[in-house]
Amino acid sequence: MLNPTVQQALNDQVQKELHSAYIYLSMAAYFEAENLPGAAHWMRNQAAEEQEHAMKIFDFIQDRGGRVTLQAIAAPPATFSSPLAVFEAAYAHEQKVTQSIHDLYALAVKEADYPTQVMLQWFIDEQVEEEKNASAIMAQLQMVGDSPAALFMIDRQLAARSGD
Ligand code: FEO
Repeated sequence: MLNPTVQQALNDQVQKELHSAYIYLSMAAYFEAENLPGAAHWMRNQAAEEQEHAMKIFDFIQDRGGRVTLQAIAAPPATFSSPLAVFEAAYAHEQKVTQSIHDLYALAVKEADYPTQVMLQWFIDEQVEEEKNASAIMAQLQMVGDSPAALFMIDRQLAARSGD
C-alpha cells in the first residue's frame, strides 16, 4: 500500500518528468529551425529519456498498488535567444529536477517508505549525470562564443549521442 502523501508526490514527479520531455522537445524544435541538426538530435534523445523517467515512476506507483493520476503540462518556451541560452536553461532546469528528487527522497525517509527510497536512488544517480551532461555542453558553448565554425563542430559532436 502506497502512503497517500508519497503517492501524490510521485504523481507530481511524473508530471515534472513529462514537462521536462516537453521542454526538451521544444528545444529540439528550436535547433531544427536554427539548422543545428546535431543539437536537435541530442534534445530529441533527451526528451525520450525524460519520458522513460516518467514511466519508471508511473510503473512504480502501479507496482505498489497505487493510482496514477496525470496532471496538466504547461507549454514550454517556444523560442530561445541562442544555443548557449538553451543549454543554460537545460542546466537550470536539471538543477530544479534534482531538488525535486531530493525533496521526494526526504519525504520517503520521513514517511519510512523504504521501497520509494530504493527506487529514488536510481534517480539521484541519474540527476548527477543529467547536470553533468548539460553543464559540459553549456561550458563548451560559453568557450566558443559566436564562432560559427566552432558551433558547427559542437553540433557534429552532439549528433553522435546515442539513445541512452
Ligand atoms: Fe528526468 Fe532530466 O531529469
